[in-house]
Amino acid sequence: MVKELKSPVRIVLENCGKINPESIEEYIAQGGYKAVNRVLQEMKPEEVINEIKASGLQGRGGAAFPTGLKWEFTSRAKDTPRYIICNADEGEPGTFKDRPILEGDPHKIIEGMIIAGYAVGAHYGYIYIRGEYILSINRFQKALEQAEEHRFLGEDILESGFNFQIEIHQGAGSYVCGEETALMDSIEGKRGNPRFKPPFPPSSGLWKKPTVINNVETLANIAPIILKGADWFRGFGTKECPGTKVYAVSGHVKEVGVVEAPMGITLRKIINEYAGGMRQGKFKMAQVGGTAGAILGEDMLDVSLDYASLKRKGLVLGSGAILVMDETTCCVDMLKCFLNFFKRECCGKCVPGRIGTEKLLEITTSISQGKGKEDDIDLILQTAKVMQKASLCALGQSPILPISTILKYFKEEFIEHIKGRCPTGVCKI
Ligand SMILES: Cc1cc2nc3c(=O)[nH]c(=O)nc-3n(C[C@H](O)[C@H](O)[C@H](O)COP(=O)(O)O)c2cc1C
Repeated sequence: MVKELKSPVRIVLENCGKINPESIEEYIAQGGYKAVNRVLQEMKPEEVINEIKASGLQGRGGAAFPTGLKWEFTSRAKDTPRYIICNADEGEPGTFKDRPILEGDPHKIIEGMIIAGYAVGAHYGYIYIRGEYILSINRFQKALEQAEEHRFLGEDILESGFNFQIEIHQGAGSYVCGEETALMDSIEGKRGNPRFKPPFPPSSGLWKKPTVINNVETLANIAPIILKGADWFRGFGTKECPGTKVYAVSGHVKEVGVVEAPMGITLRKIINEYAGGMRQGKFKMAQVGGTAGAILGEDMLDVSLDYASLKRKGLVLGSGAILVMDETTCCVDMLKCFLNFFKRECCGKCVPGRIGTEKLLEITTSISQGKGKEDDIDLILQTAKVMQKASLCALGQSPILPISTILKYFKEEFIEHIKGRCPTGVCKI
């Protein structure tokens, strides 16, 4: 089980640890499935979409696309049938914020999926769950069976005439299958490679049909918004980015775990107030937003963690993973570590991704062994820039951000390695 740190606000994690996730009765006792009842009995599909649009909810899977707009595009697509997909692949190292929701409150995700289905006119949903999340898969399966028994799923739900079903698809351990179009290929039984975009999923997604794909955390926000209203939701977070974010905090902090906090919280607050502060050493850097996220130095400890503020600085909030590192961490070793991940997980479909990830790792490894040349630093940057422009999907496009930010703060450390010394003593030169 993932440990929950003391969250200052609980919208998404509200029931986690409070109710028995294997009991639909306990979920219902907390107001569960009331939102489904409300939309099916009292709201037109376009009213549901308008409420989600008004809430300002943005996708929590990384790209921060406005959820209501995604639903509207899908509902207006001419083709049928339409599909709902919940992205529960969560394959990025350091990202474990969907897992407590899957394990702790599966019905909330089901409820979000049913409402999404009703809003866009879809009658079938898939949830793509990371294969290693055995407990999540088992609990979700149980929750689906209970929801069917209680007639929240199946034919003529709550005698409304609306039909909806959900099927679980297990991932097979590929990070790139979390990318929305690769995920769809994977569900279709193909090798999970990203597709060229456009067309985007709302017009051509699963089986080339209109598809809404949303992250677990995004969908877990839906029922509370329907029940309490868009204005209530806008009462949390910032004007541009309402609501909360679930952060997965790991690394050299006293307490590793997840914390739900309003959008706009600072890194300093997360580390000091919720993760118990640094474990031993002094703060050196944090990678925010997962492996593809930026490296933030001490000067960024008070920056507002929300999509809009970080975007203005050329940074990303991504999935909300926060990896905190102290002074014992070697920057070159750290870069090598995540480039190794990118290289291993790249699907190989596009040349910039396939060759670029390999070359980046090769150059960084040689620097870490004291065999680097001074212009290697430029070469890393230039390679990552070309990949950003020419890669097919965000996997190849994203190494530029961690690379450019780690070099912004710690270029000197790279030069030291080239001169034959690892300042932290991590690299064996
Ligand atoms: C390599 C890669 C991996 C991704 N992995 C995930 C993932 O595990 N879960 C997720 O929700 N989104 C992931 N995404 C983002 C999805 O492509 C997509 O933006 C998201 O599922 C949309 O849902 P949202 O609008 O609710 O955020 C990934 C993207 C890339 C490029």
